[in-house]
Amino acid sequence: MKILEFENVSYKYQTKHRTTHALKNICASFSQGEAYAVVGKSGSGKTTFVSLAAGLDTPASGAVKFKNEPTDALDRDEYRKNHVGMIYQNFNLFMHLTALENVMCPLILQKKDSKAADETAKKKLLQLGLKEEHFKSLPAMLSGGEQQRVAIARALTGSAELIIADEPTGNLDEENSSAIIDILLSLAKTTTHACWLLRTTKRSRNAWTRC
Ligand SMILES: Nc1ncnc2c1ncn2[C@@H]1O[C@H](COP(=O)(O)OP(=O)(O)OP(=O)(O)O)[C@@H](O)[C@H]1O
Ligand SMILES: [Mg+2]
Repeated sequence: MKILEFENVSYKYQTKHRTTHALKNICASFSQGEAYAVVGKSGSGKTTFVSLAAGLDTPASGAVKFKNEPTDALDRDEYRKNHVGMIYQNFNLFMHLTALENVMCPLILQKKDSKAADETAKKKLLQLGLKEEHFKSLPAMLSGGEQQRVAIARALTGSAELIIADEPTGNLDEENSSAIIDILLSLAKTTTHACWLLRTTKRSRNAWTRC
C-alpha cells in the first residue's frame, strides 16, 4: 500500500537577496513496510525533502500526499504527532528526561494511560537492545549508540506509520552505525512502519544498498 507520494513537488527558500530552488518537480512514492534511502550530495535538497514528508512545511507547488490526502489540507500538528516519527543525527533527546521517559513522551502526548505507556516504552527499549539498567539514565549518561537506540524507540512507540531518519548514524562509529542500520532495516520489514533512511554521498555505501 502506498503511504506517501510526492507529486511534482517544488520548494524554494526565499531570502532578501536570494532564491534557492531546493526541490524541482520531484515525483516519488513510498509503500508501507519498505525502507528507502534518499541519496544525494550536500545541498541537493535531502533535508528539505524529508522536512516536507514530515509535514514541517508544505510545497510551493505540487503535492505531498499522506494516504492520498495532501499535507496542506491536513492538520499538520496532528499529522506530525500521530503519524510521523523522526530520528536525527544528533539524537535530539530531551536531556532532562530519563531514557524511559523520553520513549514514553509520544504516548503521553497521545493521551495514553501512563501505566500502559510505561510498559510499551520498556518493551520497545528492550527490543532495541537497551539494557534495563539504563532505563533510568539521563541521555548524557549514555553512549552515542545507546542514545540513538532510545531515539529510535521513541520514534517507534507512538505507532507512527512513517519513520524518517535524517543521517541516523552520522554521529556513530562504524560498529554502532552498522548495528543501528540493521535495526532500522529489520524494523521496516517486520512492522507496519514505512522506514526511511537518509545519507549523503560522503558515507559508506554498504549499509544503504540493502534498502
Ligand atoms: N533555511 C534556509 N534558507 C535558505 N536556503 C536554505 C535553507 N535551508 C536550506 N537551504 C538551501 O537549500 C538547498 C538544499 O538544502 P538541504 O538542507 O535540503 O540539502 P541537503 O541535501 O540536506 O544537504 P546536506 O547533505 O549538507 O545536509 C541548499 O542549497 C541550501 O543552501
Ligand atoms: Mg541535510
